[in-house]
Amino acid sequence: MCNRYKNSIVDLPSLINRKNGKLFVDGLDLDQLIEENGTPLFIFSEQQLLRQYMYILESFKAKLGDSFELAFSIKSNPLPEIIRTFIKLSTFFEVTSLGEMKLLLKLGASAQNIIYTNIVKPKNTIKFALKAGIQKFAIDSCSDIKRIKKIAEFEKKSIKAFIRINPLINLENTIFSCSGEYSKIGIPIPPKEESNSEFNEVLSICEESQLVDLIGLHMHLGSQITNIKPYREALCRIRNLIHYLNQKNIEIKVLDIGGGFPINYGNVEVPSVSSFAEAVKTEIKEYLPSISIIAESGRFLTAPAGILAVSVVTIKKDPKNCEIACLDGNFYNTLPDIITSNWMYPILKVNQEKEESISSYRLVGSSNDTLDQYQLNSAGVPGTISCQKLLEGDKIIFLQAGAYSLSFTCNYCLEGNPKVIFLEKK
Ligand SMILES: Cc1ncc(COP(=O)(O)O)c(C=O)c1O
Repeated sequence: MCNRYKNSIVDLPSLINRKNGKLFVDGLDLDQLIEENGTPLFIFSEQQLLRQYMYILESFKAKLGDSFELAFSIKSNPLPEIIRTFIKLSTFFEVTSLGEMKLLLKLGASAQNIIYTNIVKPKNTIKFALKAGIQKFAIDSCSDIKRIKKIAEFEKKSIKAFIRINPLINLENTIFSCSGEYSKIGIPIPPKEESNSEFNEVLSICEESQLVDLIGLHMHLGSQITNIKPYREALCRIRNLIHYLNQKNIEIKVLDIGGGFPINYGNVEVPSVSSFAEAVKTEIKEYLPSISIIAESGRFLTAPAGILAVSVVTIKKDPKNCEIACLDGNFYNTLPDIITSNWMYPILKVNQEKEESISSYRLVGSSNDTLDQYQLNSAGVPGTISCQKLLEGDKIIFLQAGAYSLSFTCNYCLEGNPKVIFLEKK
């Protein structure tokens, strides 16, 4: 027997629907798109991106009013068409590298809308950013602000600084946690009584410099945050810090809450975006009504806007007599996040007859690599999915495949990267 899981039933996301056994994406016949473009194939939908964007915006504005800005974290999917969609919406952008800055500026993003947040900010990237008019920097350490200040003085440019805080909260159950005592991100929140903390040193450098305008605080607690209670606790600690700064006559105009809005991958319950907005309202906004909030979202915006289509090349059995469907993509060049996350991306068979029987399969990628499996449990053991009977030549799609897929992929075994198509909103 293989190690079994249930492939949870998920509602079809709105970019996909099925009519008479056929799947349609944004109203287009999926089978035909696959016929024309081959597999493996990534398909991204502008319409779905806009739905995700509106959903975040409306959820936050309903709780916070207009003092809310959304930034797109382009590391989740730097496809130029996706970036252009967000440029048209005049969103902010969260960037971490010279490459991301150059791409954004080339595509026409305003330098004023870019927030540079990496923990490592090399001299040449700082210099490039300042010369290009990028001013918003998340300050991650004393070393960071000293280097930025020195270059800003040399270039005679000013910056708008957010001090990034690690609120020292452990986000239980969140795989990609960036908070807590082992986090490399942010400056540990200082205990009130401690005057010689790294935070206070960064604060004095910001305060003393004519070129540094301290506009806010920043936090990024992690990606795919599945637990809202510690998130609230983190916000509460940040609020206390802001009160402490206010007492010292330091005004914090903006709080950037970073990323982390989660997606339902089918096997894990996740809090809604609205519950994050409610947490920000009750932990921050009700105490600090004039503060503006920025959220940086990647996964929530792009994951549901992407699907991955693959073909079943070979059906065989493993030594325990479990059926294996071997696909024409390997997980390194399609959904490499599987290795760290153990998510089971929901799957659908493209052409499905009404009365097909349900079978169990292990889905494996096209490389010889043992890890190249599309369903792994937390111990890295292959699992199975249940779906309609698969035959060689059948096509299946993985849903929620638009984030941290293309941006992570490598050309393992020189199998090439999947073709990508972008469906523009009509
Ligand atoms: C600083 C920062 N902001 C935002 C994000 C986006 O996170 P998510 O894709 O979970 O929304 C990340 C991702 O790691 C990040 O490092």
